[in-house]
Amino acid sequence: MGNYVIIGTQWGDEGKGKIVDLLSEHADCVVRFQGGNNAGHTMVVDGEKFISHLVPSGIIQKKTCFIGNGVVVDPEVLLEEIAYLGGKGVDVSPTYLRLSDRAQVIMPYHKRIDHAREAKKGDGKIGTTGRGIGPCYEDKASRVGIRFLDFFKPEVLRAKVEEALREKNFLLEKYFEEEPEDLEKTMAWCLDLADKLKPYISDTSVAINNNMDEGKSVLFEGAQGTHLDIDHGTYPFVTSSNTVSGNACCGAGVGPKTINGVLGIVKAYTTRVGAGPFPSELFDEVGSYLQEKGVEFGATTGRRRRCGWLDMVVLKNACRLNGLTGLVITKMDVLGGLKEIKICTGYEYNGEVVTDFAADLDLLSDCKMVCETLAGWDEDISGVRSYDDLPENAKAYLKRIEELSGTPVDMISVGPGREETIVVKNHF
Ligand code: GDP
Ligand code: IMO
Ligand code: MG
Repeated sequence: MGNYVIIGTQWGDEGKGKIVDLLSEHADCVVRFQGGNNAGHTMVVDGEKFISHLVPSGIIQKKTCFIGNGVVVDPEVLLEEIAYLGGKGVDVSPTYLRLSDRAQVIMPYHKRIDHAREAKKGDGKIGTTGRGIGPCYEDKASRVGIRFLDFFKPEVLRAKVEEALREKNFLLEKYFEEEPEDLEKTMAWCLDLADKLKPYISDTSVAINNNMDEGKSVLFEGAQGTHLDIDHGTYPFVTSSNTVSGNACCGAGVGPKTINGVLGIVKAYTTRVGAGPFPSELFDEVGSYLQEKGVEFGATTGRRRRCGWLDMVVLKNACRLNGLTGLVITKMDVLGGLKEIKICTGYEYNGEVVTDFAADLDLLSDCKMVCETLAGWDEDISGVRSYDDLPENAKAYLKRIEELSGTPVDMISVGPGREETIVVKNHF
């Protein structure tokens, strides 16, 4: 099958978990390469629902799963997730799950700072997931982060935590006017978790490359979405990592020549959780219809997702930034029952129509969407398994997406279940 990157094209929650789980059947390994437990990936298998925040979605199909060096990992959450999946009969032993010794640890003080900073920002807050993601990546870039490797050198760890706490406690006490974090308590937390996680930790870059050298195929499972990317998204309303396909190489420790294709996951409409510009957002009854019919609540924080029309400015940006070789359109079933369906093709701003996704948040916040209108369909398509059996208007919608994006639609998802999928082109 080769090695594929699976990437979110919008603002996250496009259905990456479902598609990675489905494609895992044909893969040998699945790798997470960025983000942390801000992600919430849902899989529905034989009617049973699984949500994973850190463990790659290939775990249900018993594939070797790697949490790469680019991921920020809350060790407590990882152990909880291992227990949760184990309780559902999934084998999450070190045979199937490996954690990079280079991955950064989300420390208790990272979560404290994430919360305190958001609270202080008040109305201007980003609406983070509160999982300590930003503060952990900050420490990585500042070169004061704790890596899992450090867990096994108690003296080195103590010196690093002590140094970190001097700064963090100054911030917590003097700036945020909160209680400090205790060194001994933090050390005890680390050492207890180190013991439990030890069997999982190794050099994952070496292992992933060894697998590829043996001809095994690897799926790289993106988290968040292209427009939450720290460079290319709606900065500062973004996450703290690069979410685009190029980061699969850095975050997993593989070379770019190993990647054979990039699949972009596209929700048939658009959603966003948290604050930040969203040009095709709908505040009318259609927005409510999508929110309710699509059950648009965040898998991590349970927050209501904002909803809007499919945005081609966004999708074209994702095609270019990720080098998408194919699209997977998800949640097509949710559009059923609408009289007409719109596609946002540009943004009107200061009397001009802009068709490239701009860096300027003023433009993205104050523009008016320019749309083309297509006819809807009434049929329930959740039982459809072949492209030919889709209603003509659904086919016309998909064709238009292909034309406007210049990228083929390889798969269509018509329900949350693994089997509720139409495969147009099988790469695998
Ligand atoms: P991810 O973060 O990209 O993995 O997406 P999430 O799991 O956060 O959100 C996607 C939601 O849509 C989940 O509840 C999925 O079970 C659900 N879902 C995925 N594909 C479809 C689909 O084709 N139709 C419907 N109705 N639901 C879907
Ligand atoms: P998956 O992988 C949707 C959003 C948060 C917030 C912003 C920054 O499930 O698609 P952070 O905690 O990362 O510092 O928050 O990013 N966000 C997501 N939105 N899906 C996700 O992941 C997200 N991960 C982060 O809501 O707006
Ligand atoms: Mg999600």
